[in-house]
Amino acid sequence: MQKFIVNGGTKLKGNVKISGSKNAVLPIAVAAAILGDNISVLHNVPNLTDVKTLSAVLEGLGASITRKNGSLYIEPINRMEFEAPYDLVRQMRASIYVLGPLVAKLGRAKVSFPGGCAIGPRPVDLHIRGLEKLGAQVEVKRGYIYAQAERLIGTEIDLLGQHGPSVGATANVMMAATLADGETVINGAACEPHICDLANFLNAMGANIDGIGTATLKIEGVRQLRGTEHNVISDDIEAGTFMVASAITNGDVYVEGIKPHQVTAVTKKLVASGVQLDWDDNGVRVTTPDKLNAIDVETAPFPGFPTDMQAQFMGLLSLATGTSNITENVHTDRFIHAAELNRMGADIRLEGRKAIISGVSSLSGAPVMASDLRAGAVLVIAGIAAAGETTVSRIYHIDRGYEAIEKKLKALGADIVRVNESV
Ligand code: UD1
Repeated sequence: MQKFIVNGGTKLKGNVKISGSKNAVLPIAVAAAILGDNISVLHNVPNLTDVKTLSAVLEGLGASITRKNGSLYIEPINRMEFEAPYDLVRQMRASIYVLGPLVAKLGRAKVSFPGGCAIGPRPVDLHIRGLEKLGAQVEVKRGYIYAQAERLIGTEIDLLGQHGPSVGATANVMMAATLADGETVINGAACEPHICDLANFLNAMGANIDGIGTATLKIEGVRQLRGTEHNVISDDIEAGTFMVASAITNGDVYVEGIKPHQVTAVTKKLVASGVQLDWDDNGVRVTTPDKLNAIDVETAPFPGFPTDMQAQFMGLLSLATGTSNITENVHTDRFIHAAELNRMGADIRLEGRKAIISGVSSLSGAPVMASDLRAGAVLVIAGIAAAGETTVSRIYHIDRGYEAIEKKLKALGADIVRVNESV
């Protein structure tokens, strides 16, 4: 295992280019590999462990995937392999994305039931409900989800769960419905930018999806989908993370390759806390002319404030003047990073799904541990802002979703090195 050693106290300065979106490329690669009849080429694909894990799942199903200069060449599955095994699925929950497409294309699927993770229980009832509505017979036994259907049949489906729309269920059911017989209407669909990118990709393959970016998707089923070429959108969460990294270090960073509409909720909260954002056509310059103000943040599905930016804001608000409140409404157990930030001198108290953050004047370096992807990211950027040395262990979480994070941070002036845990 590896860890980062960060020597803090640096103001980040310079230009950082944002990579392709992890959460967009994962379902898009699934669609290309399972639903397509011939090769697809995806550009702007980030080099991440999650993309490698998904490629292994898809190769296990008979697809052939080659990476060249930031592009993935995906030859779709060419045999009747329909099982995604536990060993791979347990490494990445998004493997569940193969369920709907496999049933739609091959008439059956056997996918390991994904487990929980450090951000809380993550059920898949909505995925299953959607596929059942499309006429699939679904059974869960011995840790696997079995689904089968001769041909899926279009219908009206409500995908709203107790915590709002589900990104994963929307992607899964939308992909399945593209090959169903007749029209499917999905109510309560997720509207995240990566869901729109997936829908646009499916339409370029020959699907017929209407209402992209709204809560109601209308999908007219087609008989087959062809391979296509696609530029994956840039990663809104990586961009938000670097915006916070600039603000928390009182730096001056130009975040390149992001549009305001991808990060509207994050932008509003940064401005409310006193961060200055100067946008142009290619990105945004992030500076902090005055002290940071305490603010309140509530996570919600898009267009609300993303749960995937909650940890980074907790780090930022630790250094704001006054008391901030963060309410986590999406993944309700997602607060493990609070205790790690407190080890660095933050003053964060948890009350159920609320974190109460009393701003402190500085953070100090400490040994801390990443518990999940975004929790890992905040510890790294807090370490850059803190005085002294921070070691962040279990950084394999960070590698799942941030391409070359230490190279990008080093280029902005951070003192960060990757070492083996035993060093
Ligand atoms: C995706 C993102 C993840 C992000 C999350 C919310 C990917 C690969 N991951 O995860 O980074 O944090 O969206 O923006 O894109 N739920 C159910 N039943 C279900 C499915 C979900 O109750 O069948 C609940 C979840 O427990 C959670 C909420 O719905 O409380 C939203 O989850 P969902 O949008 O499905 O998250 P993921 O797709 O897993």
